[in-house]
Amino acid sequence: MTRSSPRAGPGGGAARDETPFVELRGIHKAFDGHAVLNGADLAVRRGEVLTILGGSGTGKSVMIKHMIGLLRPDRGSVWVEGEEVTRRSEREWFEVRRRFGYVFQGAALFDSLNVYENVAYPLREHLRWKEAAVAERVASRLDAVGLAGSEGKMPAELSGGMRKRVGVARAIALEPKVILYDEPTTGLDPANSRRIGEMIVNLQERLDVTSVVVTHELELCFAVSDRVVMLDGGRIVTGGEPEDFRRSDHPSVREFLGGGEMAATGSRAGIGEGRGRGAGHGQ
Ligand SMILES: Nc1ncnc2c1ncn2[C@@H]1O[C@H](COP(=O)(O)OP(=O)(O)O)[C@@H](O)[C@H]1O
Ligand SMILES: [Mg+2]
Repeated sequence: MTRSSPRAGPGGGAARDETPFVELRGIHKAFDGHAVLNGADLAVRRGEVLTILGGSGTGKSVMIKHMIGLLRPDRGSVWVEGEEVTRRSEREWFEVRRRFGYVFQGAALFDSLNVYENVAYPLREHLRWKEAAVAERVASRLDAVGLAGSEGKMPAELSGGMRKRVGVARAIALEPKVILYDEPTTGLDPANSRRIGEMIVNLQERLDVTSVVVTHELELCFAVSDRVVMLDGGRIVTGGEPEDFRRSDHPSVREFLGGGEMAATGSRAGIGEGRGRGAGHGQ
C-alpha cells in the first residue's frame, strides 16, 4: 500500500495541491554511457521532511545535486517554487541556490578555517554584511545546532558528530527555505546519529523549512520523515508516509528493509515524545 506517492509530470495535481517546492521531472542522467537516473520523478512538498532511501551507488547524491544545479540532466526538467530552472545560466543558478542549504556528504569543512569562518563562508560569498552582523548570524546558527560558543575551534578539534553539525550550521547560514542533508549520519555512532536526527526535526520546527534527507540508514529515516521515497533502478519507485512505507509490499522496499526493520522502530513522533527523553521539543 502506498499513499501520497509523488505526483509525476506537469499539471497532474488537483487544484488544491500546493506547488511543490522542488520538482524533478523525468530526469535522465548518465556518466560515461552508464545510466544512473532513468526517468526519475520527485516532488518535494513545502514544509515536509522527505527522505530518499536507496542503496549505495543508486544515485541519491546525483539526484539532489540536480535540485541545486550542481549537475544538469541529460533529459528532464527541474522546477523550484513553480519555475523551471533546468537551463538557467550559472549566474542564475547561483541565485536559485541561495534558497537551499546543502549539507555535503562527509561534512566537508574547510580544515584550515575555524568554525566561525566555516559558518560565515556562505554569508561572505553571497552578502556584504558588516562583521557584527556576520558574527550575530554565526552565533545564532551555532546555537541552533547545539554548538553555541564554539566559534574559535578548528575542525580538527571536533568530533565527527560536531563536524557534521558545523556543516549544518553553515548550510543554514543564509536562511535557506530547503535543507538538503546528504547522508548526515554516515560514520557516526548511534548516539550521535540520534542527535543528528533530533536536530533535523528541531530545525524543521524552528526554522520553518523543507528538508530532504538522503540516507541508507533506516533508523534516521523513520525518526525524521514525514514521507519516504525509494530510489531504485534510476527512478523513484514508490513512496508514502513512514508507516505505510514500512508496510509496503513493493519488492524494492521489501528488499531494502529486509533485516534492518528490527533496528528501525523509532518514529518521528517518538523523538519528541519519548525514547527516554523528557517531554517537549526543546533541546
Ligand atoms: N560526477 C560524476 N562523474 C561520474 N560518475 C558519477 C559522478 N557522480 C556520480 N557518479 C556515479 O553515479 C552513481 C551514483 O552515485 P551517487 O549518486 O553518489 O550514489 P549514492 O546513491 O550512493 O549517493 C555511481 O556509480 C557514481 O560512481
Ligand atoms: Mg551519496
